[in-house]
Amino acid sequence: MASLVVVGTQWGDEGKGKIVDMLASQAHLVVRYQGGNNAGHTVVVGGEVFKLHLVPAGILYPQVTCVIGNGVVVDPQVLLDEIAQLEAKGVSVKSLRISEKTQVIMPYHRLLDRLEEESRSDKERIGTTGRGIGPCYVDKVARTGIRMIDLVDPQALKERLEAFLPAKNKLLTQVYGQPPLELEAILAEYRVYGERLRAFVADTSVLVAAAIREGRNVLFEGANGTLLDIDHGTYPFVTSSSPTAGGAATGSGIGPTVIDKVVGVAKAYTTRVGQGPFPTELFDEVGDRIRERGKEYGTTTGRPRRCGWLDAVILRYAVRVNGLSSLALMHLDTLEGLPTVKICTAYRYRGQILQEFPASLKVFQECEPVYAELPGWPEGTTQVAGFEGLPAQARAYVRRIGELIGAGVGIVSVGRERSQTLVLEEPFGK
Ligand code: IMP
Repeated sequence: MASLVVVGTQWGDEGKGKIVDMLASQAHLVVRYQGGNNAGHTVVVGGEVFKLHLVPAGILYPQVTCVIGNGVVVDPQVLLDEIAQLEAKGVSVKSLRISEKTQVIMPYHRLLDRLEEESRSDKERIGTTGRGIGPCYVDKVARTGIRMIDLVDPQALKERLEAFLPAKNKLLTQVYGQPPLELEAILAEYRVYGERLRAFVADTSVLVAAAIREGRNVLFEGANGTLLDIDHGTYPFVTSSSPTAGGAATGSGIGPTVIDKVVGVAKAYTTRVGQGPFPTELFDEVGDRIRERGKEYGTTTGRPRRCGWLDAVILRYAVRVNGLSSLALMHLDTLEGLPTVKICTAYRYRGQILQEFPASLKVFQECEPVYAELPGWPEGTTQVAGFEGLPAQARAYVRRIGELIGAGVGIVSVGRERSQTLVLEEPFGK
C-alpha cells in the first residue's frame, strides 16, 4: 500500500491520463492537485473515449473516491458540463469531492486571459489555453480570489464579488476598452453553480489524510508538466501552478513525508504546445509523421502540437526536481518504422557542453541538441504481450533512456488501450 504522485516530465500531454487510469484501478482515492481545465486527459476504455479536464481520471472506477484538491482552479460551468457528460455515459460521480479551498474561475478571468494575451507582442505571447487559469491564480496570490466555500454561500459570494468586481471593471474598461461586467448577472449565474456543486464540496484534506492513515493506496494526479511549472518550468512560457511533485503536498493539504513514490510520465519523444524554445523540435517529415501517428493535437484546444526527439536533459531535470522513483514511457509505438531514432543527451551552447537544464531562457533558446543516434525498429509493437516481446532495438532504446536519466523505466506504453501497457515494475508495488 502506498501513496504515489504521477507527474508529467515534459511540457504536458505525456499520457498521464492513461497511467492515472491504470493506477486508479488499484487506488482507493485519486487527488488532482493543481491546474484547471487547461489540462485534458484522454482515457480509452473498451473503445469508448473519455476526455476529462477537471474530474480525476479515477472517476471511471466505482470504488475510487475522486478529489479535486485545494491547488486546483475550478471553472464551475466546465465542471458541471463534465459531470453531466459522465452521467450521460452511465458513469456515477457520487464519489467526487471538491476542496472548499479551490479557487473559482470567474468570467473576468477568462476575459483577462484573452485580453492579456492579445496585448502581448508575438515574442511575449505565452499561447495560453484561454481558460482563465493564469488570472485566477493571480487573484489567489493577490488574495482577491473567490473560493469554492464562497461559491456555495450566496452571501459570501455577493460580498466577495462586490469587493473585487469594481477593480476588475476598471481594468476591463480603462485598460482594455471593454464594457464592464454586471454584478447581478454574474451573481445569478454563479449562485446556480454554487447550488449545483454544494453537495460535492468537502474538507478534502481530511479525506486524503484518513485514506493515507488507513494504509490505502492514494494517487496524486498531476496535470500539465514539469516544464510548465511556475517555478521550475521554462518561465515565462509556463502555466501558473506547481505541477511538479512538491505541488502534490501543498495542492492537497498533506505533508511531503506521507508521499512514498513519484512516477514520472514521458513520451518516447517530445511535444510542446504554445510558444517557447524547444531544442529537439523537428520541422521535417519525421516531425509530421510523429504528429500524425501520435495524434498530437491538443485534447483541450485541438491545436497541433510541436513534435521533436526525446530530450534526456529535460528528463534528468525532471528526475531531480520531482525526485522521480521511476518513469512511464508512453507512445513507444509512435516511433516504430523509423530507420533511426535520436535522443538528445546534452546541449551545445556557444561551444560549451551543458549537461544540466539551464534556468535562462536566453541560454535555452540558443542550445543545440547533442544527439545519440540509435537503430530504429520495424512496425508491429502494439500487440506485444510483455517488454521482452518488443524488438531488440526498441528494448535498447528504452534501456538507454533509463541509463541517461538515472531512473528506471517501469512502464512502457504501446497504444491507447489499457491492455497495451507493458509493466516492468508495479508502481503500487503489487
Ligand atoms: P495556461 O495554463 O492556459 O495559462 O497556458 C500556459 C502555457 O501552458 C501555454 O503554453 C499552454 O499551452 C501550456 N499548457 C497548459 N496546460 C497544458 C497541458 O495540459 N498540456 C500542454 N500544455 C499546456
